[in-house]
Amino acid sequence: MPPRRIVIDTDPGQDDAVAILLALASPDEIEVLGITAVAGNVPLPLTARNARIVCELAGRTDVRVFAGCDAPMSRPLVTAEHVHGKTGLDGPVLPEPTMPLAPGHAVDFLIETLRTEPPGTVTLCPLGPLTNIATAFARAPDIVGRVRDIVLMGGAYFEVGNITPSAEFNIYVDPEAADLVFRSGVPLTVMPLDLTHKALTSRDRVEAFRALGTPVGRAVAEWTDFFERFDKEKYGSAGAPLHDPCVIAYLIRPELFSGRHINVVVETEGRYTTGMTVADWWRVSGRDPNAQFMRDVDAEGFFALLAERIGRL
Ligand code: BDR
Ligand code: CA
Repeated sequence: MPPRRIVIDTDPGQDDAVAILLALASPDEIEVLGITAVAGNVPLPLTARNARIVCELAGRTDVRVFAGCDAPMSRPLVTAEHVHGKTGLDGPVLPEPTMPLAPGHAVDFLIETLRTEPPGTVTLCPLGPLTNIATAFARAPDIVGRVRDIVLMGGAYFEVGNITPSAEFNIYVDPEAADLVFRSGVPLTVMPLDLTHKALTSRDRVEAFRALGTPVGRAVAEWTDFFERFDKEKYGSAGAPLHDPCVIAYLIRPELFSGRHINVVVETEGRYTTGMTVADWWRVSGRDPNAQFMRDVDAEGFFALLAERIGRL
């Protein structure tokens, strides 16, 4: 099979960084057409910087990185330095990027790519707030039917929320954008907290990255060390979820994941529940399914895949 052609839309973030590395390490399965940065974990100048740091770490200065929207569609930006640190990529000390940003706005790149590539061939992989994707859909409705599918990290049902008691961060930051995407009719595969909280790091799993003995392996271990401290304190868990790599791992090894095809809508006006993904897991709403909502992952298989692929870089 030819590699799946994807655009990674991202707000790096240590777990976004690992997701990007996993994609770049998997050319037989995945061709990265471009990376679009969005404001999220940290403001846009930092996410656009961090995406390039990751490409350079992987030796892939040829990958085009575009800067996109610097704020949600209709709300002020909420960031997550308390999780990811001041730069968004705290942990190892890595050089400032030397590769330039690709010229033009990420939203224009998304529109242009979807208009020029054959219909039904491009998969969008959002790893942050859905602002860039929704803005492209709103501005160019003709591209919506040309998207093959969207595989995204965001939302929660059984785990409810991580940034508020009822909302997951990526959806909470721009619920209007998420609402537009979830109602777009594009086939969706969703990696919610319900699934990512089952893909937890452990000492052995982090040491497997460090033991690769490469600069990339060390960076992944140090990012994970940094990222872990927050979740361990918050949840009292043994490790931290590597949320965003689940999206890319799904494209490579879908059999590691399972879920249900159900209806999912996004709350945009809740008094306490804005940004909640109302997932009709029990199929009681009568609303048509619009998303493959994942719930389980073979964590051993997931971490084995990660270590094997990161070891290629
Ligand atoms: C999501 O929010 C960010 O902090 C992570 O990068 C991930 O995309 C998890 O809620
Ligand atoms: Ca992210």
